[in-house]
Amino acid sequence: EQIEKGGYEHFMLKEIHEQPKAITDTYRGRLLRNEAIIKMAGVEDNMKKFLNANRIIIVACGTSWHAGLVAEYIFEDLARIPVEVEYASEFRYRNPIINENDIVIAISQSGETADTLAAIKLAKSKGAFVFGVCNVVGSSIARETHAGAYTHAGPEIGVASTKAFTTQITVLTLMALRLARAKGTISSSEFRQHLLELEMIPKKVEKALEADAHIREISDLYKDSRNCLYLGRGYNFPVALEGALKLKEISYIHAEGYPAAEMKHGPIALIDENMPIIVIATKKGHYEKVVSNIQEIKSRKGKIIGIVTEGDEQVRALADHVIEVPETLESLSPLLTTIPLQLLSYHIAVLLGKNVDQPRNLAKSVTVE
Ligand code: G6P
Repeated sequence: EQIEKGGYEHFMLKEIHEQPKAITDTYRGRLLRNEAIIKMAGVEDNMKKFLNANRIIIVACGTSWHAGLVAEYIFEDLARIPVEVEYASEFRYRNPIINENDIVIAISQSGETADTLAAIKLAKSKGAFVFGVCNVVGSSIARETHAGAYTHAGPEIGVASTKAFTTQITVLTLMALRLARAKGTISSSEFRQHLLELEMIPKKVEKALEADAHIREISDLYKDSRNCLYLGRGYNFPVALEGALKLKEISYIHAEGYPAAEMKHGPIALIDENMPIIVIATKKGHYEKVVSNIQEIKSRKGKIIGIVTEGDEQVRALADHVIEVPETLESLSPLLTTIPLQLLSYHIAVLLGKNVDQPRNLAKSVTVE
């Protein structure tokens, strides 16, 4: 097992650090920047269906559901296709209105999650075209779907999903860009810029990983917290949900993710000097509005950990701590802002002496209802 961990103390840490390579493996052979094209057989072969679809319904569970929420922003923003994101466990039991003009995208790392598989079968029975985004090759979901795209993240052992999440977002971004180009909803220069920026993401993830020691110090200060709040807006709202899930899963600290602007409708009541609040406040994407949320937190004495763009000064002046990530397009920012949140939950769990790779009560793949 020590050999499998490749010198890392835990699988989770190894998998966090594998993300630059995993993301590269995911876009390799698909993102052809010199030719300015994206090649994805599963999309190409079914292009007509995608272009004629009324809407896309994404079904998934857990972290994969969060990747689906990020995809909702990407597909709507770039390809202008209406998207709904559903928990597979809810979708399957609520007599959904769905027909042959709908496309269902099922996202699953393991390809074995029982609820997601059942949702796929239901969608198929109603005539929908079902596309799978799986990591495990030949898994049940990969076999049950009409077409699909693998994430190529390599085996993920840690129960808390890390590289599966970022590679799912990568695949879904490639799909959205391919469809956006086919539909003409983005210009060729915007398309090229996205390809260029996406290709630079692995290097930028490496850069984000350099904050590791700094994040460990912050973790030490907040490891005894009983509650934690994660805030983000737009593309980074799902990242806030995922950050909170990571902390819950492995450190057993109660955490909630919220859209930053919704804070005033509830969570603000919880804020006092004992409440750490992780705020994703990168430069693009409602920056000024998030800064004013940070001011509200500060006036209530909440402890602020800002996830900011390199060189940020405004949030730095207000926050108790900042963790920098490199600049990128807003649509790609979840691939970077996720990294410090993974490291934060990892270090807190390690400092608390928890079983990081196999947290209590959780399973890597949930094959029963
Ligand atoms: C379990 C795992 C999570 C995962 C979820 C969905 O809860 O612990 O890490 O996100 O299942 O799994 P899937 O394999 O369908 O992505």
